[in-house]
This record gives sequence, C-alpha cells and structure tokens, in this order.
Amino acid sequence: MLELKSVNKKFGGLHAVNDVSFRVEPGCIKAVIGPNGAGKTTLFNLITGNLPVTSGTISFEGQEIQNTKPHQAAALGMARTFQNVKLFHGMTALECVMVGRHLRSRAGFISGLFNLPWTWKEERAIRAASMELLDMLQIAEFAGVEATSLSFGQQRAVEMARALALEPRLLLLDEPAAGLNIYETAEIARLIRRIRDMGITVVLVEHDMSLVMDISDEVVVLSFGRKLAEDSPLNIQQNEEVIKIYLGEDDAFAQ
Ligand SMILES: Nc1ncnc2c1ncn2[C@@H]1O[C@H](COP(=O)(O)OP(=O)(O)O)[C@@H](O)[C@H]1O
Ligand SMILES: [Mg+2]
Repeated sequence: MLELKSVNKKFGGLHAVNDVSFRVEPGCIKAVIGPNGAGKTTLFNLITGNLPVTSGTISFEGQEIQNTKPHQAAALGMARTFQNVKLFHGMTALECVMVGRHLRSRAGFISGLFNLPWTWKEERAIRAASMELLDMLQIAEFAGVEATSLSFGQQRAVEMARALALEPRLLLLDEPAAGLNIYETAEIARLIRRIRDMGITVVLVEHDMSLVMDISDEVVVLSFGRKLAEDSPLNIQQNEEVIKIYLGEDDAFAQ
C-alpha cells in the first residue's frame, strides 16, 4: 500500500529523516515510534506532501507520490490527522466533518454558490454521511455543538471523522492519544481497530507505548531520523537497542 525507499529530509544542517525505508501492507495498523525529535511528524509530512523530500521515493499503491501536493495525496486516497488538533472556530462538529466530505463531493463550487436544486440533494447526502461518521465515532450527540468547545478527546474524534469523510484507503494519525486520559485512550484504541476493520490501512505515530503495543501489527522505531528497528510489537519490546533509547523516559514500556 505504501513504500518508502531511502527517504531523506534535511532542514539545513539537520538530517531530520535519514535514509528511511519501510513498507506498509494493506489492511494493517503500523506504528511509528521514537523519542521526541526523532523525525516522526516530518516523516508524515513527507508522505502526505506537506513537505518535499530531499531524496528518496515514496510510493502509494504503486504510484510515486514524493512530489505530490497535499490535496493530490488526499485525492489519491490518503487522509491524516495532526499532532495538534486543527478544527475551525465557529463551526459545529457536524459542519467540520461536512467540510471533509465536501472535498469528496461532485457538486462544483459555482452550483453550490447558486444553491441549485441538484446540490440540495447532494448536501443532504453529505449531511447524512457525516452524521453516520459522527455516530460511528460515538459523538453524534455533539453534532450541533461548536467543535472547539468540545473536550479534547471529542475534538480528536471530530478530527478523525473529518479525515474519514475523505473516504481514504490509508489513514495517517499523528499522536491520536496525546493529551487523552486512559478512558479516552482506550476509546481511541477501539476506534482505530474499527477503522482498520472497515478495510482502511492505518499508520500512526504515537507516544503512548501501551496503545502502540496493544493495537499495532508492526512497529517502526526511529531515532535521530534513522530507522533503528522494524518488528512485531512483542519483539520491539524486547529489542535491546530500542529499550536503550527509551531509558530515562518515564517507564515507556510500563503497562
Ligand atoms: N519545518 C522545520 N524546519 C526545521 N526543522 C524542523 C522542521 N520540522 C521539524 N524540524 C526538526 O526536525 C526534527 C524532527 O522533528 P519532528 O519530525 O517533529 O520529530 P517528532 O515528531 O519525532 O517529535 C526536530 O529536530 C525538529 O526540530
Ligand atoms: Mg511529532
């Protein structure tokens, strides 16, 4: 589904992503972990076209995408959420999701502007599909509430619904559990599994090690921009080098 070959990203003298290669098989949940500053978010930005690569290739379903723009990557079938939740002020949860859905819709901007009849029908369909997503993420009761006034966990769910509204085949989640309490994190874990069970491939960057070990099929470990290891969650937890880079971090592997 996704293949990175010798991907490099330099910011001036800083080698943020250093010769990273890995593959993501369709239908799996793959986690990218590593200490702060390891290059995880940068890697996501390279995959989604938010940043250009310095060198290397990234293929999505066999097509090279390292030079595509974010909207092109979205049109190809990938969607993402951000480490810092980005929702629009003054919009309800439902409207935030409908924006994602509109990007998928056929009705042009002009016909929308003049409120032509065939767009009413489409608008109703978009509304219904967006409500369904809110329902699936168990936040339907907040559909009419201003998104930015919701709890942090609920805002993350809205952001996920908005990404899913693009009907992606690949979903990239940057620290979906950051700032969530243990109940919200357990809920997110359930959601991510449900998304995978819908047939959507998931790549996530995550700091919460118990979440990673719980839901991932495979784990890639980055350290100072380099791939240190790639293995099953069980083997990663027993990998000496990986344990070493997490020493001094607050009981990263404590469950
Ligand atoms: N746009 C940028 N310009 C310059 N340096 C950056 C930029 N984005 C990230 N970096 C640097 O690249 C390194 C990796 O950052 P990042 O990918 O955010 O790490 P992570 O997500 O693993 O915590 C850090 O040293 C960070 O300061
Ligand atoms: Mg990051």
